[in-house]
Amino acid sequence: MEIKKFIEEFKGFTVQEFEHLTYAMIKPDAVVAKEEILQDIEHRGFKILFQQEYQFSKQLAENFYSEHAGKGFYDRLVAQMTAGPVVVLILEKQGEIPCYQVWRNELGATNPANAAEGTLRNVYTYKLFGGPEMYAQEKATNCFHGADSVASVIRESNLVLYDMLMSI
Ligand code: CMP
Repeated sequence: MEIKKFIEEFKGFTVQEFEHLTYAMIKPDAVVAKEEILQDIEHRGFKILFQQEYQFSKQLAENFYSEHAGKGFYDRLVAQMTAGPVVVLILEKQGEIPCYQVWRNELGATNPANAAEGTLRNVYTYKLFGGPEMYAQEKATNCFHGADSVASVIRESNLVLYDMLMSI
């Protein structure tokens, strides 16, 4: 959906509705498998409300991940997130469990070496990088991002949608 049209819809979402949404991303080095991943996401029961390839600026990446500023992996994270376009996703899944939590369950652990078999990070780390060793050697990402709370869903989607709007 076109960005301005989606933002009109987005502005109307209530906090209760955000329980059934999440903010997600396909990270730059996994975008090569975008079409397969989008199908996989739908097969896992998520409705893709919004998707857009978008190049993060250094400033946006630093702002997005500001809670990690100063940590050992922060500079690498910012470099990886700005190395090429990401796919920005706003997903919907109705149910008892908040959507962000269901999405994180589908992702598996942050470190792909610990991601359970069949989870997205497990599947695509093997497909794209041959296994989790590349992540351990800091040469690859964990392929996906997922907001970690309803507050993060709201913060992250606002931040990125606003940046997109300003870039038009
Ligand atoms: P993401 O879900 O995008 O949220 C924060 C990101 O920081 C995370 O995925 C990883 O890419 C990265 N990250 C978090 N913890 C570590 C870690 N201990 N070592 C390396 N990267 C990390």
